[in-house]
This record gives sequence, structure tokens and C-alpha cells, in this order.
Amino acid sequence: MAFEHHVLLPLIIFSCIQTLHGDAVPITPWDLKRSPCREGVELKTADCDDRNLDSVPQSLPEDTEGLSIMNNILSSLLNSSFERYPLLTHLNIAGNDIRMIESRTFYPLKEMQDLNLSFNRHLVLPDTGLFRKTGLIGLNLWRSNISLFDGLVSLTTLDLSENSFDLSILRHVDAIPPWVFKPLTALQNLSLEDCQISLLHPLAFEALKSLRVLNLGGNKIKQLPTDIFKHLGQTTNIDLHNNWLANLDKNLFLNNCRLTTLLLSDNKLTRLNQSTFKLIGPSLTSVDLSRNPIDCNCELSWLLDWIGAPLVLMNKNQTICSSASLEPLREKPLFDFDSKKLCSPNIALYSLTSLATMSFVVIVVLVFHYRWQLRYKLFLLKLAAVGYNEMRDARDPNDYEFDMNIIFYDDDEEWAGERLLPTLEERLPQFQRNVFGDKDLVVGMHYLDSIDYVVSRSYKTVILLSRAAVRDRWFMLKFRTAMDHVSDTQTEFVVAVFIEDIPDDEIPFLARLYLSDGRPYLHWTEDVRGQENFFDELTKYLTINLRTNDLIPNE
Ligand SMILES: *[C@@H]1O[C@H](CO)[C@@H](O)[C@H](O)[C@H]1NC(C)=O
Ligand SMILES: *[C@@H]1O[C@H](CO)[C@@H](O)[C@H](O)[C@H]1NC(C)=O
Ligand SMILES: *[C@@H]1O[C@H](CO)[C@@H](O)[C@H](O)[C@H]1NC(C)=O
Ligand SMILES: *[C@@H]1O[C@H](CO)[C@@H](O)[C@H](O)[C@H]1NC(C)=O
Ligand SMILES: *[C@@H]1O[C@H](CO)[C@@H](O)[C@H](O)[C@H]1NC(C)=O
Ligand SMILES: *[C@@H]1O[C@H](CO)[C@@H](O)[C@H](O)[C@H]1NC(C)=O
Repeated sequence: MAFEHHVLLPLIIFSCIQTLHGDAVPITPWDLKRSPCREGVELKTADCDDRNLDSVPQSLPEDTEGLSIMNNILSSLLNSSFERYPLLTHLNIAGNDIRMIESRTFYPLKEMQDLNLSFNRHLVLPDTGLFRKTGLIGLNLWRSNISLFDGLVSLTTLDLSENSFDLSILRHVDAIPPWVFKPLTALQNLSLEDCQISLLHPLAFEALKSLRVLNLGGNKIKQLPTDIFKHLGQTTNIDLHNNWLANLDKNLFLNNCRLTTLLLSDNKLTRLNQSTFKLIGPSLTSVDLSRNPIDCNCELSWLLDWIGAPLVLMNKNQTICSSASLEPLREKPLFDFDSKKLCSPNIALYSLTSLATMSFVVIVVLVFHYRWQLRYKLFLLKLAAVGYNEMRDARDPNDYEFDMNIIFYDDDEEWAGERLLPTLEERLPQFQRNVFGDKDLVVGMHYLDSIDYVVSRSYKTVILLSRAAVRDRWFMLKFRTAMDHVSDTQTEFVVAVFIEDIPDDEIPFLARLYLSDGRPYLHWTEDVRGQENFFDELTKYLTINLRTNDLIPNE
């Protein structure tokens, strides 16, 4: 108040003199408002808030260190605006209408630590040629590649929040080009909250080696460039709340080993990839995932383990599973998710599967070693263990064009015609629509197409393997076609029959593969009782529809 009188006095004298000269200028409330700032002499501060100022006052002591010009009507800052105050450490210009800043405005302020430029709603970044061309008043925060912040070598806090950096009307223009923050190597605290930012240049924060706190909350960011935080090795807090993020790259936090707080609330995150968070390391202590449509399923079990002792999940109550989650978790808090209870059957199944796979490998080796001796015993064992019914598939012979398709090598036609066919016809009178070798193939079709046609339209296919047969390329092509259909349909509609012993080293890879997959095969024998057995089994194979079952050997 004392200061106000001090300043008012010369003004009154001045106007009196003018009055004396007969050129009266009345003192308006405007003059009273604009001149005086409240000064704290000891602290070297000046408070010029709410005074309708349209320029930076130039009458304050030159050693002023703290200056606040909040809520005035400043629309521009000039090279000369702060030349008078080189010792400024704190400057608050929030709540004005700054649209133009000359490029050397902040250059004299080598001591500046804390700069507040928030709530200047028309601050537009950057100054693009386009703005000038279209006659829009753009703010010259950075002209070409020269940063407005040049010279602010001591700046630790920069508040740019509540400005509009929305450049969505200009495609391919980054809200913050890489050179903007380049001079700010000492910056620790940066706020870009509520700035309408949708796109960030991957190198926007490259120079901010000292940054501790980064606030990007309240923007429209859908996707963060993978490397955006790469250079923020000192950063402890990243605030991304209230954006449009739907996913986070797995390497996003790769270099942020000091991160202790990560705010991700109010985004569109559905899946949280363990890889993304695993990299943050042991430093992370608080994370806010609330109000995201989190898809709670067993893939997320890691999160519950990870949110163990040292980690605090903020706003637990509002961290809710989306309606796309596992049924019992829908719309429930994430922490109702008992992954041990809900997901353990799968774990059990997985370990069972791998155990079974290992056992199967062992069994295959054994079976192959004892090949033919074991076959019948194992066949019975399989039936006992699984039962016919469980193994039945839903196929019906009537859905097929052919009942039985017999594939053999030309030289084996006699064997097939004399030893196999008569017995099968006798035992399977219901099989009327049979294809016997190449002679019954569809006429007028390409040979392999015709093989494929018959195999895929036959209820059952029998393949006769002999030493000569497995050496024949055409025969193996047919064999291959049948195998492919087994894989495609996952049904055991093919039975391989060894009509003679084939030495191990003559069995082609394809046939080994087929056998090692546990597919059904039989072995012809000259023994009469053995032949009876053979036909019993073959008949079973041809009438029971087994699903392919890789866990239990067929023989
Ligand atoms: C402000 O300083 C910059 C850099 O020195 C210069 O290019 C610009 O012309 C100056 N502005 C005015 C109005 O003198
Ligand atoms: C900047 O000024 C605004 C408006 O007064 C205020 O809300 C904000 O907290 C200030 N920023 C900092 C970093 O002090
Ligand atoms: C800025 O751009 C000019 C030419 O456009 C170039 O010569 C200069 O090296 C650039 N400066 C920086 C710091 O990138
Ligand atoms: C950064 O700015 C925020 C907002 O003003 C403040 O709460 C916080 O203490 C600051 N942090 C640092 C490290 O300066
Ligand atoms: C997580 O990331 C890895 C590697 O990019 C990817 O293979 C995996 O599918 C992702 N998981 C989810 C749930 O998105
Ligand atoms: C959040 O949970 C706590 C404890 O479980 C409870 O006391 C509190 O009322 C809940 N808050 C809301 C907003 O539901």
C-alpha cells in the first residue's frame, strides 16, 4: 500500500501540472489499476496479478527475482520485455491471452527456474507458415527451428498446461517439434496438461535429460511413439491420465528405470501387455489403471502377481473389468479376479498336455521299437481307457459320396483284389459306394485333382503300403494327399495297411511322420489267426469314426 501512494503521488502532481496548463487528463480507474504492482522488497518479488496490464511493467527494480503477471491482458511478449530483469528466477504469466512471443524474449533470463505460461488459450504451437499465410494469428513460440526457450539454461519447471496445441486442422504437423525443448536440459518438471495434444513427435522430449515429472494428462493422445520416453532416464512420474490410449507399446518404458508413478487412468486400455510393464523394473511403486475398459482374462494373471507387495494400485475401486472380460469378472473390480482359482484349470491342462506330449514321445519310441508286437494290446488298452463313445466323431457315411476308398500301388492290385476286397465286402455289406484304385477315379479330371476329390469325399480311405509302393512318387503323392486331409479335418478317416514288412530305412519320411502322429495302421500277416485279427481291427477302424487323438497311440 505504501508503494501505491508513492507511485500515485507523481501521477497526481503530473495531472495537476497538466490541469494548470489547461490540458486536463482525468485520472481513470484504468491508470490506477495498471501502474502499481505489489512488491515484496525483501524477497525481491512483484505481484502484478489482476491489473489489466497489456504489457510487462518496466518500472520495477532491476534485481526483481519473482514476477507474477497473472490474469492480465498481455497479448504479446517482446525481445525487450524482460531485458530489465536478468535476475528473474520465477515468472508467472498464466491467465493472459498471449499470442505472440518474439524469439529472444526469454533469452536474457539465465537464472530463470520456474516459468508458468498456462492458461493462455490462444497459444498455438508451433508457428507454421500456414498460420501466417491464412492470416490467422499464430503464436511465434518457435520460428523455424529456433526454440523460444533458448537461453533458459536454469529452467527447472515449465508449466504450459491449459493451452491449446491442437493442430488437428493441420495434418502432419507435430504439436511439439523436436527442437522446442532442446535448450531445456535442466528441466525437471514439465506440464503439458489439457493442451489438446493428439500427436507427439517421437523426439519431442529428446533433450530433457533431467526431467523428473512429465504431465501429459488430459490430452487426446491415441498412440504414443515407441521412443517418446526413451531419453527420460531420470523421470520418476509420468502422467497420462485422461487420454485416448488404447494400447502401449511393449518398449515404451524401456529406459525409464526410475519411474515410481505411472498414471494411466481414464484411457481406453483393454489389454495390458506384461512386456510393457516388465521393463519398468523394480522402481515402479504406484500405478493408476482406473477407469479403463480392462479385459480381465487369464492373460492378465501376471498383473495380479506383479501388483504384489511393493506395488500400489491406485483407485482400486474404480479399476473395473470390462464387459468383454471372463464371465464372472464382468463389471467387477479387477481385484476380485482370483487368477489362481479361475485360471488354474488351464494351467493344469497345459502341464497335463506337455506331460502327455512327453509321454507320447517316449511311447512312440517304444512302440516303434516293438512295433508290431504291441499293436493289438495297445489297441485294446486304448479302447479300455477312452472307450469308443468318447472317440466317436459326428460323421455319418451318408454325408459322403463314397463309403470306402482303397489306394494302392499298381503292382499291389492283385493282393488287394484277392485278399482284401472279398473279405471287406463280406464284412461290410453296407459299404456299397467304393473306390478301388485308380480305375474307379473320376473320369475326365486331372489325376491328382481326382485323387483329392475322392479322398475328401470318402468316408474312409485305406492305403496299402508295400516296399514298391513307398518308392513310387505317384503313390507317395496320393499318400500325402490323404495325410493332408487327416490334418485338415482332424478325423481318422485313413487307415494305413502294411501288406509286407518294410525295413526301417526304407520307410519314407512322410510315412514315418504319419505313424509318429499316432495314426491308425495295421500290419498284414501270413498267420491265419493273425489275419482274423487283422480283419477284426480293420473292420473296427472302418466303422468307428475316431477323432485324431495325438495323446494316445493308436497301436
Ligand atoms: C527479436 O530477436 C530476434 C533474434 O535476435 C530477431 O530476429 C528479431 O528481429 C527481434 N525482434 C524485433 C522486433 O526486433
Ligand atoms: C501456473 O499457474 C496456474 C494458474 O495460476 C496454476 O494453477 C499452476 O499451478 C501454476 N503452475 C505451477 C507449476 O506452479
Ligand atoms: C536450423 O535450420 C537451419 C536452416 O534451416 C540450419 O542451418 C541450422 O543448422 C538449424 N539449426 C538447428 C539447431 O537445427
Ligand atoms: C512439479 O510441478 C507440480 C505442479 O506444480 C508440483 O506439484 C510438483 O511438486 C513439482 N515437482 C517438482 C519435482 O518440481
Ligand atoms: C504382448 O506383446 C508381445 C510382443 O510384442 C506379443 O507377442 C503379445 O501378443 C502381446 N500380448 C498382448 C496380450 O497383447
Ligand atoms: C473403495 O473401497 C474402500 C475399501 O474397500 C471402501 O471403503 C470405499 O468406500 C470404496 N470407495 C468407493 C468410492 O467405492
